[in-house]
Amino acid sequence: MAAVGDARARRAAVREGAATKRDANAVTRADIIRHGETPARVDPAVVDPALVGSTLADPALPDPALADPAFRADVLAGLSGRPRAIPARWFYDRRGSELFEDITRLPEYYLTRTERSILSAHAADIASLTGPGRAVVEFGSGSSAKTPLVLAAVAPSAYVPIDISGEFLRDSVAELERQFPILPIHPIEGDFMHRLVLPAALANRPRLGFFPGSTIGNMNAPAAVDLLRAMWETLGEGSKLLIGIDRIKPVSVLIPAYDDAQGVTAEFNLNLLHRINRELGGTIPVSAFRHVARWNDTEARIEMHLEATRDVSFSVDGRPFAISKGKTIHTENSYKYGPRDARLLLRSAGWTPIGEWTDREGLFGLILAEARAVPAAP
Ligand code: TRP
Repeated sequence: MAAVGDARARRAAVREGAATKRDANAVTRADIIRHGETPARVDPAVVDPALVGSTLADPALPDPALADPAFRADVLAGLSGRPRAIPARWFYDRRGSELFEDITRLPEYYLTRTERSILSAHAADIASLTGPGRAVVEFGSGSSAKTPLVLAAVAPSAYVPIDISGEFLRDSVAELERQFPILPIHPIEGDFMHRLVLPAALANRPRLGFFPGSTIGNMNAPAAVDLLRAMWETLGEGSKLLIGIDRIKPVSVLIPAYDDAQGVTAEFNLNLLHRINRELGGTIPVSAFRHVARWNDTEARIEMHLEATRDVSFSVDGRPFAISKGKTIHTENSYKYGPRDARLLLRSAGWTPIGEWTDREGLFGLILAEARAVPAAP
């Protein structure tokens, strides 16, 4: 296992704990609020072998019948459609999450370290625009090194991490409780793509949403506006939002960030095929696919694809598929925004930009916006 304090190792340890001893997770003082119905998820890596032992001798070959039905449905539909596309959310099994953490540390992947350096360089400025005493509501994760930077800067009255994964939440909350022992933390397990009801303890408290990592860039414009509106509704009028949005820049910088020399991003992309084989009884010849990152200038986005390097045929969950040489499965988009584009996107969802920071080279933008009622047109 990696060094103590390594976030990835911590996550793995928590997941390991979840597999063997549920009590190992009862370390946080905060109760996790669950929102809506989370579909039953079976991660083969954490399935208790006793549960599958009767039907299955080898836990490395889980029964496809135990797989997440939404994963199966998305993969079968995605391989049947034209163009072929599988939603990017399925990247993040245990291995995928580990590989993604590795991506954020790559020399070519400028996003994570640039956003972090903007946050620390301008923390005082950001804090003076947000004002003290806000409840910080983070959309997704909370296990990154960016959260403590924001919490230390803005003197919050509470912290509300929202994540679809209860395990991630437990992990990050436990760590943040150590660093901020008197800060009230109210984790919410739920899908932030939809409007959520914040804990009653936050009533009448001003809010600051935090959405780092340019995750907004992984959605097309209509989906991004829907999400920003849902955040507006969740946080309410008068709230503020601190959001990271990656910028358009030369292709010579963009492409290596999504196709690094060490091949970590390639492995991350190809892991989706391994996951299909592992969890859905797939027979995909993974070595017959290569990772492709391309810049689509019309759409202003990086696209990640898996390209067949020869004609292949295989089955998934007993269904046959064929892909000819040169054809791809589209797995991810990462839209990039010019400064004006980013502000227009925010305005389209009722968020008025009130502050903006970037790095020396203008690689990445951090925007503070305010939820205002949309004024009547003149
Ligand atoms: N939103 C980030 C980005 O687009 C992180 C990310 C999501 C990512 N999926 C990825 C990074 C796949 C690399 C590869 O950069």
